[in-house]
Amino acid sequence: MCGIVGYIGNKKAYPVLIKGLSRLEYRGYDSAGIALLENQDKLNVYKRAGKVQDLVDYIGDSSTEGNVGIGHTRWATHGLPNDTNAHPHFSSDGNIMLVHNGIIENYDIIKKELTKRGHSFQTETDTEVLVHLIEEVYKKSGVSIEEAVRTSLNEVHGAYAIAVICKDTPDKIICARKSSPLVIGVGEDEYYVASDATPIVEYTKNVVYLEDEQIAIVDKNNGLRIISIANVEVSPYIQELELQLEELEKGGYEHFMLKEIYEQPRAIHDSFRGRLNASEGWISLGGIKDYEEQIANADRIIIIACGTSWHAGLVGEYYFEDLARIPVEVEYASEFRYRNPVIRKNDVVIAVSQSGETADTMAALKMAKAEGATLLGIVNVVGSSISRITDAGSYTHAGPEIGVASTKAFTTQVTVLAMMAMAIGKKRGTISDKRFNNLLIEMEALPTKIEKLLKSNDYIQGIAEIYKDASNALFLGRGSAFPIALEGALKLKEISYIHAEGYPAAEMKHGPIALIDEEMPVFVIATKGPHYEKVVSNIQEVKARKGKIIAVVTKGDTAVREIADHFIEIPDTDDVLVPILATVPFQLISYHIAVMRECNVDQPRNLAKSVTVE
Ligand code: F6R
Repeated sequence: MCGIVGYIGNKKAYPVLIKGLSRLEYRGYDSAGIALLENQDKLNVYKRAGKVQDLVDYIGDSSTEGNVGIGHTRWATHGLPNDTNAHPHFSSDGNIMLVHNGIIENYDIIKKELTKRGHSFQTETDTEVLVHLIEEVYKKSGVSIEEAVRTSLNEVHGAYAIAVICKDTPDKIICARKSSPLVIGVGEDEYYVASDATPIVEYTKNVVYLEDEQIAIVDKNNGLRIISIANVEVSPYIQELELQLEELEKGGYEHFMLKEIYEQPRAIHDSFRGRLNASEGWISLGGIKDYEEQIANADRIIIIACGTSWHAGLVGEYYFEDLARIPVEVEYASEFRYRNPVIRKNDVVIAVSQSGETADTMAALKMAKAEGATLLGIVNVVGSSISRITDAGSYTHAGPEIGVASTKAFTTQVTVLAMMAMAIGKKRGTISDKRFNNLLIEMEALPTKIEKLLKSNDYIQGIAEIYKDASNALFLGRGSAFPIALEGALKLKEISYIHAEGYPAAEMKHGPIALIDEEMPVFVIATKGPHYEKVVSNIQEVKARKGKIIAVVTKGDTAVREIADHFIEIPDTDDVLVPILATVPFQLISYHIAVMRECNVDQPRNLAKSVTVE
């Protein structure tokens, strides 16, 4: 939700800001803007509704001078996504500029107070109120700009990552964070500020992750200083980035989403590399080693997540119950946090999150922490807020996911959940050695099997062509394939804007069957396994009502082939791992349909990748 970027040093700030904003565009893309401090008298501000490229076109030949600047790419919360509401926002006198990711919840009260004191506002945003508040403190109290920022932040409620520049102090950027991420890159006599490390990685590997309620004073001449909003000095902890620049490029693919679908063999391999060995018969997740006893003895596991990660959590429920025999509840973080749920000390709460920054998941974790539960994270982004608040966890190691629709993040989350459940099942003695060893062999074979599956891309594209004009679609599955039906439906709707629903196959006759006619494509997971015959009956029910069946089947299946309109084969595997393989054809179907419908695959309308507001 919104990306912010800043630069101060000896280089020209403009290219750094624009490149940085393009990298952060996945966080929001309805408007963009930059402020460049040319000198103490000249501050150039450019803002535009639309994408970063629209901003660049708008700037054209205008002055882009200056070694100091801040920028923003927006996902609108307060106020329409137009030129005026785009960031940066500025003080009444235009001397202070601010970019913001988050929400100032008490902006209305502050706005009324400032209006009484003579401030007038140009925009409908909460952010403009904050910059006016800083101006009010700065001018009335005669304090430094950093002190004005600190004092103001003590007055606001909500979430923020901000970067502020002021004409009076052209050698400084003041930044702060609370519940929205912020990273500072430390170079040679230069500093970078960004919502994540992607705009920084090509310039420096040395970064400082700002903690909640910390303020960073980035001073070109005097270096980096960090204080808390309570004004306590903090020594900056510089970490080295592992991120590689190539991971952020499309690498010859037309879209990031397609690249990320194709990266799954590698991503899944990375998610289990060094963590299991089939020939030696072991699984070992270093990140949770010290907590295995606690997890094995937990009364209950609560998995919290949002969106696609919630679907991974649903698959995890099958894994932990089946393999480790521990009761599991899977919760939407946004519901859980406001439900006054019963959380006990002996509960283990697992947060699943690609970004590690989702506001609702973070808030739910904080609540569970306050009740004394053990917190685990299954997170992709290293060093993210969720990875830091949890007691322990396992990274998914999927690598950066830039496409807004989650693909490799999902399949690696499911892989890590399977490994965790197997490790705990082994410890509890609830999984036989034979099954454990067989699963290890199947896990190791997953990357190769996905590679084979990806060879069906052209064939799947052909099926997509047939259904690209559908207005609705149903996705059906049973058992651990049911969450894959939900995920298939989510992928299709979010990138192609076709209305789609996922259902447990047997639930169809309790309502959705009324929707079926000759126009309705029904995607069904009908792989060999305990539910096979039942799913075949459900397919017959659809066919009897003239629905179109696109079935995902196990390689070599003949029975479903005969009744389905189309079939997509996936390699044979243990039923536990079917969710991972069955996901891939649905990703490809959605991708191709979205491309054929000329939708913006990597940046679907109204969405943002990292949902840092509730
Ligand atoms: C859909 C998608 C979203 C995210 C959700 C949670 O393709 O990507 O539904 O899964 O916003 O995000 P994370 O996993 O970052 O917590």
